[in-house]
Amino acid sequence: MLPWGGYWQGARLPVGARVWVVGATGQVGQACLRVLTRWLDVRGFAHAEWDITLPESVQRWLLDTAPQERPRCLINCAALTNVDQCEDMSDRAMVVNAHGPGLLAHACERTGLLLVHLSTDYVFDGSRSTPYEEADPPRPLNAYGRSKLDGERRVAAQMPSGRFLIVRTSWVFSGYRPNFVTWVLERARAGLPVRAVTDQVSAPTWADDLAEAIGHLLLNGMRGWVHFRNEGPCSRYEQAEWVLQAHGLPTALLEARTMTEMGWRARRPAYSVLSVARYQTCTGLTPRDWRTILPRG
Ligand SMILES: NC(=O)c1ccc[n+]([C@@H]2O[C@H](COP(=O)([O-])OP(=O)(O)OC[C@H]3O[C@@H](n4cnc5c(N)ncnc54)[C@H](OP(=O)(O)O)[C@@H]3O)[C@@H](O)[C@H]2O)c1
Repeated sequence: MLPWGGYWQGARLPVGARVWVVGATGQVGQACLRVLTRWLDVRGFAHAEWDITLPESVQRWLLDTAPQERPRCLINCAALTNVDQCEDMSDRAMVVNAHGPGLLAHACERTGLLLVHLSTDYVFDGSRSTPYEEADPPRPLNAYGRSKLDGERRVAAQMPSGRFLIVRTSWVFSGYRPNFVTWVLERARAGLPVRAVTDQVSAPTWADDLAEAIGHLLLNGMRGWVHFRNEGPCSRYEQAEWVLQAHGLPTALLEARTMTEMGWRARRPAYSVLSVARYQTCTGLTPRDWRTILPRG
């Protein structure tokens, strides 16, 4: 049995190795396509081309095509990430975020591919006030978190070889797809109120930095569980305030709320800052502050 939340060393992925990315049109998928090409031979698959929940897709790509094209690694960026939608469609969330990764893991184990699987800070309940380590006990508060945790468990269970890397991250933002930062900017530019919570704290993650971190971890032969996010824990309110100031937009549009006042369908952890100590030990690198990506104007 592999230690839950542990890490171990595997073969380093050589520069130029072929890597496939599923869920390639998402924020992290697009970042992987853009950033990892620095070191690796990357090919992306959109949802329409490869649905991770369908055994026939997995058969086609991993069992029939991969032995000829010889990718060394599959990065799974496919997921249902809308937290409230997952609450309403918890069965579908389980299919995409848990059953699908289980299918991928089973096929990767059979074909000898390394599987990189993305997961989330929402596997934790937020009752702590110091950063969560990889081996801390998970206790998700919502359907999204439960489905992502189940995905992690299936990946580990299907891959007794230990040829997997589970990367947990938080509050991803990018220029690729709508996210909290783009929402704040859109609202403010339209002169609409920007309501953001003061009682939820985590750390934003720039998708390109996450993709680069995945690259460093692969080139270092890292396996098991690892956390990555940018430096600079904050509340959503503080994040929105910084974003508005960085873009020279009026902070008067900002309205402080609590999570209860927001009336969200899914509960969120109040505190879900991930510790990046393991990432730093394994790579010798320190993530930069997310505020250096959005410098204050
Ligand atoms: N976004 C965050 O703040 C955040 C925070 C923590 C962890 N994460 C994790 O990071 C990973 C990537 O997130 P992201 O922000 O890049 O998500 P995203 O932008 O929502 O992208 C998800 C991608 O998955 C695809 N997809 C959905 N169902 C699929 C299926 N059945 N088969 C194949 N592809 C499918 C989507 O394609 P279509 O749109 O065409 O369906 C989309 O390209 C996920 O594992 C997520 O749980 C994200």
